[in-house]
Amino acid sequence: MPPRRARPDGQLRKRILVVDDELSIRKVLQALLARDGHEVDLATNGADAISALSDHSYELVVTDLRMPGVDGIELLGYCAQHLPGLPVIVVTAHGTIDTAVEALKLGAYDYITKPFEQDDLRAIIAKALRTEEASRSALHEDPSGRFAIIGKTQSMKQVYSLIEKVADSPTTVLISGESGTGKELVARALHDHSSRASAPFIQVNCGAIPENLFESELFGYERGAFTGAVTSKPGRFELADGGTLFLDEVGELPIDLQVKLLRVLQNGSYERVGGVRSLTSDVRVVAATNRDLLREVKRGSFREDLYYRLNVIPIRLPPLRDRSEDIPLLVQHFLAKFNSRLEKRVQGVSPEGMAALMAHRWPGNIRELENLMERSVLLADGATLGTRDLPGLGTSDLTENEDSAIEELGLKDYVRVYTVRLERTRIQRALEQEGGNVTRASRRLGISRKSLQTKMKDYGLRDT
Ligand SMILES: Nc1ncnc2c1ncn2[C@@H]1O[C@H](COP(=O)(O)OP(=O)(O)OP(=O)(O)O)[C@@H](O)[C@H]1O
Ligand SMILES: [Mg+2]
Repeated sequence: MPPRRARPDGQLRKRILVVDDELSIRKVLQALLARDGHEVDLATNGADAISALSDHSYELVVTDLRMPGVDGIELLGYCAQHLPGLPVIVVTAHGTIDTAVEALKLGAYDYITKPFEQDDLRAIIAKALRTEEASRSALHEDPSGRFAIIGKTQSMKQVYSLIEKVADSPTTVLISGESGTGKELVARALHDHSSRASAPFIQVNCGAIPENLFESELFGYERGAFTGAVTSKPGRFELADGGTLFLDEVGELPIDLQVKLLRVLQNGSYERVGGVRSLTSDVRVVAATNRDLLREVKRGSFREDLYYRLNVIPIRLPPLRDRSEDIPLLVQHFLAKFNSRLEKRVQGVSPEGMAALMAHRWPGNIRELENLMERSVLLADGATLGTRDLPGLGTSDLTENEDSAIEELGLKDYVRVYTVRLERTRIQRALEQEGGNVTRASRRLGISRKSLQTKMKDYGLRDT
C-alpha cells in the first residue's frame, strides 16, 4: 500500500469504497466523503466491488442493496466471509426496512435509508471508522506490518494485554506454547513495544548451539582462550546490551549449562571465556519453550531455580485448534501476504475449503497454516481456493480425522461445517436431476444462475 497522506486535522485519510448502481447517489457520496478528506473509490455493482476489494485494502464500504447482478446482500456475504473486521454500511431505499434488518443480520455495520441527511450519514461513517480502527489495533498490527500478530479471540486478547502491560518492564518473560504458535513473534513484539526497541534484539537458539560452544557464544571469549581464538569476540549477552536477549527453546538447554545461565541471570555479571574482567550487560531476558517446563522440573531435567527465575511473567500461547474462529482472519492475512509476494491474485477460500481449514487439527499451528497458504497461493489457478487447492486437508471430502475434529467444534462452527456440506450435496443433486443444465438447476434451487455458478466454482462442481 502506498503511504497515506494525513488530513489537515492530522487524522489519516481513509480509503472508502462506495457501491451504487445510481450515478447520482455515487456522486453525492463521493463529494461528501471527499470533503471529509477521505479517498473514495466507486463501483457500480457488487461484482465490481468484489474486484476492487481484492485489489485494494479499504477501511469502509458503503453499499446500496438493490443492484443488478451481484447485489448488496451478496456483497455483504462476501465481506463477512473474506474481510471480517471491514465495516459495511448499507444504504437502502425508504420502505425496505426488512431488507435492512436482514443486512444487519448478515453482518452489516449499520444502515441508512434514502433520502438521508448528510450529517446522519457522516455520524454513522465516523463511528464505523472508529470501530474499524479499534479492531485493527486489536490485531496489534505493527504499522510496518512486519510483526503483525493476528487473532481476535479472547485468549489472544489476553496475550495482547499482557504484552502491553509487561513490554516496558525489565522483568523476565517466559513464553510457552506448541510449535508454530507464534512465540518468536510475541518475543519480538515485547521488544518492539518496549523502550528498548531501538537497541538490539538478540536471539539464542538454545537447542542449536553445541554444548562446548555455548559459553563462548553467550559470554564471548578473549583472544587465545582456546585454539582457534585468534581474536577476542563478544558474546550474545554483550551484544544485547541495552536491548533484549531472546532465549529460544530454553527447555533444550543441557542441565550443566542451566547452572551457568542461572548465575548470570542472578548476578547480572559474567566473564568472557579466558577473560578475568567481570562484565555486566543491561539486558531484558525473554525465554520461550514448547515443552511443559514444570513437568521437566518434576522429571529433574530442568532446574527448578532457573524455572522460577525465568517464569516471572508467563505468557501462554493457545494452539490454533483452540481458536479456530481466528482462521478466517489468518487466512486473509496470509492470502494478502503471499499474493503480494508471489504476484498472485487469489481472493479467498471457498466455503467448503474454509470449513476444512476450520476443522483441521493443525499440529504445526500457525506455521503449518502459513506454509499451506503459501503453497496453495503459488499453485492456485483460480481466484478462489477450493478444497482441491488445499492439499493435506483431504480432497473434496473431509477425512475421518477431521470428522472427529468437527465433533469438537463450537456450535457455530459445527453448524457452519454441516451447512456447507448440505449445500454442496443439494447443489450436486439438483445438477444431476437437471442433467447438468445450470439454468434449470438454479430454478430448481430458487437462486440465480450466476450465484449457482459461483457456488459451483467454490465447491469444485462441474455442469456436466
Ligand atoms: N498470531 C499470528 N499472526 C500471524 N502470524 C503468525 C501468528 N503466530 C505465528 N505466526 C507466524 O507463524 C510462523 C511461526 O511463528 P513463530 O516462529 O513465532 O512460532 P514459534 O512458536 O516460535 O514456533 P517454534 O516453537 O516452532 O519455534 C511465523 O512465520 C509467524 O510469523
Ligand atoms: Mg520459535
